[in-house]
Amino acid sequence: MDILLIGSGGREHALAWKLTSSPDLGRLYAAPGNPGIASLAEIVPLDVTDAGRVLDFCRSRAIGLVVVGPEAPLVAGLADVLRAAGILVFGPSGAAARLEGSKGFTKDLCARMDIPTAAYRRFTDREEALAYVRAQGAPIVVKADGLAAGKGVVVATAIDEALAAVEAALDGTPGAAIVVEDCLFGEEASLFCLCDGERAVLFGTAQDHKRAFDGDQGPNTGGMGAYSPALVLTPDLTEEAMRRIVEPTLLGMRAAGTPFSGVLYAGLILTETGPQLIEYNVRFGDPECQTLMMRLDSDLLPLLLACARGDLSEARPVWREEAAVCVVAATKGYPGAFAKGSPIRQLPEDDDRAIVFHAGTKLLGDRLVADGGRVLGVTATGVDVAEAAVKAYAALEEVDWPEGFWRTDIGHRAIARDADGTAA
Ligand code: AMP
Ligand code: GLY
Repeated sequence: MDILLIGSGGREHALAWKLTSSPDLGRLYAAPGNPGIASLAEIVPLDVTDAGRVLDFCRSRAIGLVVVGPEAPLVAGLADVLRAAGILVFGPSGAAARLEGSKGFTKDLCARMDIPTAAYRRFTDREEALAYVRAQGAPIVVKADGLAAGKGVVVATAIDEALAAVEAALDGTPGAAIVVEDCLFGEEASLFCLCDGERAVLFGTAQDHKRAFDGDQGPNTGGMGAYSPALVLTPDLTEEAMRRIVEPTLLGMRAAGTPFSGVLYAGLILTETGPQLIEYNVRFGDPECQTLMMRLDSDLLPLLLACARGDLSEARPVWREEAAVCVVAATKGYPGAFAKGSPIRQLPEDDDRAIVFHAGTKLLGDRLVADGGRVLGVTATGVDVAEAAVKAYAALEEVDWPEGFWRTDIGHRAIARDADGTAA
């Protein structure tokens, strides 16, 4: 089967890497891709925001499956256009992608389905929102309603910070909307499920490191590293999250006439009263996906195809009994201003120690240069998170890129927990 993969990040490089080991794969095309993906797939110069062009390409090449990596084309309805033309797609419809595209939509669904999540109110009126925040007091959380590339959330510890966040978000821009919610406390973990509209099949757990610098300091980023599995999500907590959060979500989406298919990424916070939902994403996490792909023993292609066909009844993903760690190398300055074009002079060879997944890289002739904020995701497996981290960091020592930086403590929580003996 020939596949078109949409996206250009480390997540999509990892998906391409895993898909190319499938005996069922014919040709793999990718758009827009990156130099890492180009070593595995044929890059097609397609504007992926133009669904009509994507459809024309799929028809001209008899594409059997389209795998959509990022959220923006899903929220924009790419899967709807392709499905309406009879093309199989891994990824939700635009209506179902509102689980990520609108925080207010998701909160209302949680309220309807009695899904554990922080108490909340939705606002479009600035004065009403300010009055509510003053009445509630800090700590409190202010979230922009729409897609914000991970930058739309302010967890305010002081009331002035919360009021400023409301003013910044409801600044008079037409259509601006926010959710204000109670602040929850606990460790965060991510749970991934493959969904076919009706069923959810657990597809691994992970924890990511959102802050730019060691010790979880500095500004929020798209993710500076991740590890899988997240042992803090014990089998009991995972079962509880599936039963109280994921399954009612699928039920509610079906009842609304917008069944969810694709990968559902539940951002959870493990509170004293059990797991609660922080947010949903409607795609794989980046860099969580890199760790999942290296741990997955099963063939990925039939699993994605089963989601796209709407029948996961036979799907039983099998995982290697290993942990994986991905350390992201980013351009100095990220997530603030940074320069593009710095040369990456040397990378470690991909081998059984570690794999370098490309994100924001570009080839200038035969020279590899940085072309984005997050640039590389060095990913390794090991018997536990500590061993995987040692292997990933050993590989990073061979990266010769003076303009790059990375955190040196990815996996620290899991490593400390293992050392404490508080988890198996
Ligand atoms: P989100 O983009 O919704 O995942 O939020 C980004 C980050 O903000 C999350 O990973 C949490 O660390 C934090 N956060 C969001 N909502 C809450 C909440 N209700 N209570 C505490 N922290 C939160
Ligand atoms: N790593 C967080 C995300 O993909 O949203």
